[in-house]
Amino acid sequence: MPATFVIFGASGDLTSRKLIPALYSLYQKKRLREGLRVVGFSRSPFSHERWRQELAATTARFVGEEFDRALWGEFAQNVYYQPGDIGEAGSFDDLRKFLSQVESGPAPRVYYLATAPKFYEPAVEQLARAGLTDERQAPRRVVVEKPFGYDLVSARRLNQAIHHAFDEQQVYRIDHYLGKETVQNLFVLRFANAIFDPIWNRNYIDHVQITVAEEVGVGKRAGYYDSAGVMRDMFQNHLLQLLMITAMEPPVRWAADSIRNEKVKVLHALRALSPADVATDTLRGQYEGYAQAEGVAPGSHTATFAAARLQVDNWRWQGVPFYLRSGKEMSCRTTQIVIQFREPPHKLFNGAARNLCEANRLVVQVQPAEGIQLHFQTKVPDAGMKLRETDLSFNYRSEYGRPVPGAYERLLLDALEGDASLFARADEVEAAWKVCDPIIAAWQEGKTPPLLRYEPGNWGPEASAAWMRSQGREWFDSCPVLS
Ligand code: BG6
Repeated sequence: MPATFVIFGASGDLTSRKLIPALYSLYQKKRLREGLRVVGFSRSPFSHERWRQELAATTARFVGEEFDRALWGEFAQNVYYQPGDIGEAGSFDDLRKFLSQVESGPAPRVYYLATAPKFYEPAVEQLARAGLTDERQAPRRVVVEKPFGYDLVSARRLNQAIHHAFDEQQVYRIDHYLGKETVQNLFVLRFANAIFDPIWNRNYIDHVQITVAEEVGVGKRAGYYDSAGVMRDMFQNHLLQLLMITAMEPPVRWAADSIRNEKVKVLHALRALSPADVATDTLRGQYEGYAQAEGVAPGSHTATFAAARLQVDNWRWQGVPFYLRSGKEMSCRTTQIVIQFREPPHKLFNGAARNLCEANRLVVQVQPAEGIQLHFQTKVPDAGMKLRETDLSFNYRSEYGRPVPGAYERLLLDALEGDASLFARADEVEAAWKVCDPIIAAWQEGKTPPLLRYEPGNWGPEASAAWMRSQGREWFDSCPVLS
């Protein structure tokens, strides 16, 4: 049965930049079931043809040299546009009529909410009212973009509104980090290789570092970013997702709920931070020049950098800190997970493994380098018993010889196929807010720790390195070499 992919917010940036290029690439690779229809819905008064033309230009730009005009022509035959207003009930009645015209019988549908977040609630309400969520004839799924709420209260309210219209198993909350191949490979690294599990615990691991550094600033998104800040923008979703996958227990089977049950347990095991803990266990910073960016409120206290030390209170991780950090305007763009092992228990060689920096380290490079390195000591030849850190390295590109696909391809295909493994469940997003809300509240109300300024092009505020050193540890500040 050919499916229909309905995009709300069809004239927006996400649609042209990510969604349509991903669908087109899937079509090009013959991954889509035959006859998939794409229907765009937004207020702009496009005709089908005008929308196709606009998308042809943007898709050619974002897909690059793989774009094939003739193939696009084939794909675009099934691309339609239906103008409408999310605030108007009549628009949804028109949409229902239009969908039944283009679908020649019952067809599975994915409704993708690519709108501003304030439209999520009215959109799902209207979908239900217009009878567009009923699954008696064929599956109906809804994909909800981030941000999912602004805090726990608003996330709960949104979940309730969605659950009035859809059952939880119809809901796909997207976090594009889960669509990255290197993030999915973390499941494989941990659960398809028997050598890691025996050492993946407090007996062998000193601590874990999860860094998501960006070289860019807020750019044109200051209007949104200034009221979000790094905790809502990056920690509540992407960083906590990386933490969950690193720390979770093996799921009993590769199925959406088994996976998500284990992930949620990690969030529940995170020790809650009191305001006093927030003062000592978190850092926040703002890059110089942020306050002058267009759209930023004068005197803004929004953090563009944060670091946090979190404890997972369970048998596996007791006493192993998880250091999370993320910032804009950092030294380079890099997302990496560092598993820092303990020092050897007995120092046999002079000069070897004197401190943690020389203990073994497993580095999972998520992006833009894509691979894994294991750092270990070797003997320098012809130099007595001199040791040096060297590494075993796995690199996606050189191993598989082709570019890794964009995150949206995998996620859109999974939503179309009804596999929610890589999407967040209602309790998961709420539990993630429970971790972030107390930090945000303590920053705002207690004003501690202070908001530190940092120069663009560094690893955040200088105090961040000192904070780690005071705990006998060091950030793994390394911009990966891309080969
Ligand atoms: C988004 C954030 O979710 O992720 C952005 O809103 C951030 O602020 C982006 O730049 C980072 O995504 P990626 O895939 O480039 O690491």
